[in-house]
Amino acid sequence: MSLPVTSGGFDRDKDEFARGARALVVLPDRGDATRDADARLAETAGLAAAIGLVVAARVALRVRAPRPATLIGSGQADELAVRVRQEEAQLVVFDGALTPVQQRNLETTLDAKVIDRTGLILEIFGERAATAEGRLQVELAHLDYQAGRLVRSWTHLERQRGGFGFLGGPGETQIEADRRLIRDRMARLRRELEGVSRTRSLHRDRRQRAPWPVIALVGYTNAGKSTLFNRLTGADVMAENLLFATLDPTLRQISLPGLDKAILSDTVGFVSDLPTQLVAAFKATLEEVVAADLLLHVRDVAHPDTEAQRADVEAVLAEIGVAAETPRIEAWNKLDLIDAADRDALLADAARRTDVIPVSALTGEGVDVLTRHIATDLTAGHRRYTVVLGAADGAGAAWLHAHGEVLMQVPGEEETSYEVRLSPADYERFTRRDA
Ligand code: GTP
Repeated sequence: MSLPVTSGGFDRDKDEFARGARALVVLPDRGDATRDADARLAETAGLAAAIGLVVAARVALRVRAPRPATLIGSGQADELAVRVRQEEAQLVVFDGALTPVQQRNLETTLDAKVIDRTGLILEIFGERAATAEGRLQVELAHLDYQAGRLVRSWTHLERQRGGFGFLGGPGETQIEADRRLIRDRMARLRRELEGVSRTRSLHRDRRQRAPWPVIALVGYTNAGKSTLFNRLTGADVMAENLLFATLDPTLRQISLPGLDKAILSDTVGFVSDLPTQLVAAFKATLEEVVAADLLLHVRDVAHPDTEAQRADVEAVLAEIGVAAETPRIEAWNKLDLIDAADRDALLADAARRTDVIPVSALTGEGVDVLTRHIATDLTAGHRRYTVVLGAADGAGAAWLHAHGEVLMQVPGEEETSYEVRLSPADYERFTRRDA
C-alpha cells in the first residue's frame, strides 16, 4: 500500500483518467445564492471535458448539513451509486472539496473513482502545461496536494515497515517514508524550477530593457482571452471551447495607434476555488501579469455568474501580488450573445464608466474602440516634444518612430525637425543618448 510516487510524472492512474472515460458530475449544492447551480454544473462539466472525460450526467444534490464521512447523506450516496451503474460511469467528479476520508468512503459506496474540484483542476493543469517551467510547477503543486492527502488519510493506517532499513531506520513507518519521498522530489523540483525561472527572468529583463509597455490579458476561464488575443495580434493561438486552452503565457508584439510597439501577454484562465497549491506555483508564470503596465480583464458578460467571476479574478490578482493601482480595463466580451433588451442597458452601463469597453472578440465589434482605449491609457503621460536631428541621423529617426508617435517632420538641408509624442522617460532617455 505504498504511495506511488513515480519519478518524472504524476501519480496519475492512467486507466481511470483515460480520455473517453464516462463521468458523472456532481454538485453538492449548499444553497449558495451567489452562484447559479446550473452554470456551476456546466462549468465543472466543461472542466471535465477539458481532460477528455465524457460527461454522462450532471447531478445537483442539496446538502444541508455536510457529513464528515461522505459529505452527502447516505440515502443520497445510495441513489448516486444507482445512477453510477445506470450511466456506466467509471468516475465521479465532485464540484467541491472532499476530505481524503470522504473521497475514500465515496469510492467504496459508489464503486467508482472519485475526484474533487482541486484534483480535477490539477489534472487539467497537468495535461495543459506546455513549457518545462509550467510542467515543473504543476508537478510541484500536485505533490503538495498529495502530501496533504497523505498526512490526513494515512496517519491512522500507519504501519511498521520491516527492519531492513533501506529507507530509514527500523521502525520507520510507511507514511514517513512516503512523505520523505515526496519531500525529496519536491526539493528537487524546486531546484530545477529555480534554474528555469532564472533563465526566463533573464529573457524578461532583456525585454524590459526595451521600453515597451506590457499589456496582460487576464480573465476567468473561457471568458474569451485567447480569441481576443488573436483579434488583437492576428496570431493563431489555440482558441477553442476548452477550458484552460491557454496555460503558459504567450507573448506577442502588437502595434496600437500612437504606440508602435507593445507586448501583449495571454495568461492562464482563472477559476473559482483555484487550488492554493496552484496559485503559489503559478506566481512565477504569472509574473508577466504582476509586472504589466496595464491589465486587460476579459469578462464573459453573457455568463450568469459574470459578477462572481469578476470577484474571483480580482481575488487571484490580489493574491499573486498585483498592485491595486495597476491600471486596468475591462473588456465586456461576448456582446453578440446579449439579447437586444439587455444590450442597451449594458451599453449604457459601460458608457458611464471610463474603464469598460464592450466587445465581441468573435465578431470584432468594439475591438477598434478597445485598441484606441488601450493606446490612450498607455500613452496618457506622453507629451509633445520638438526634436531636431542631423539629416544623416537615420538611427535617431528610427528610434523616434519606434518609441513615440511622430506627428510632423520638417526636413531641412542639414537637419530635420520632428514633432513627436513621447513619454517623458523616453524623451529623457533620448536626449541622454549621446551623453
Ligand atoms: P481559457 O484558455 O480557458 O482561459 O479560455 P479563454 O478565456 O482563452 O477563452 P477562449 O478564447 O478559448 O474562448 C472560449 C470560448 O468562447 C470559445 O468557444 C470562443 O469561440 C468563445 N468566444 C470567445 N469570445 C467570444 C465572443 O465574443 N462571442 C461568442 N459568442 N463567443 C466567444
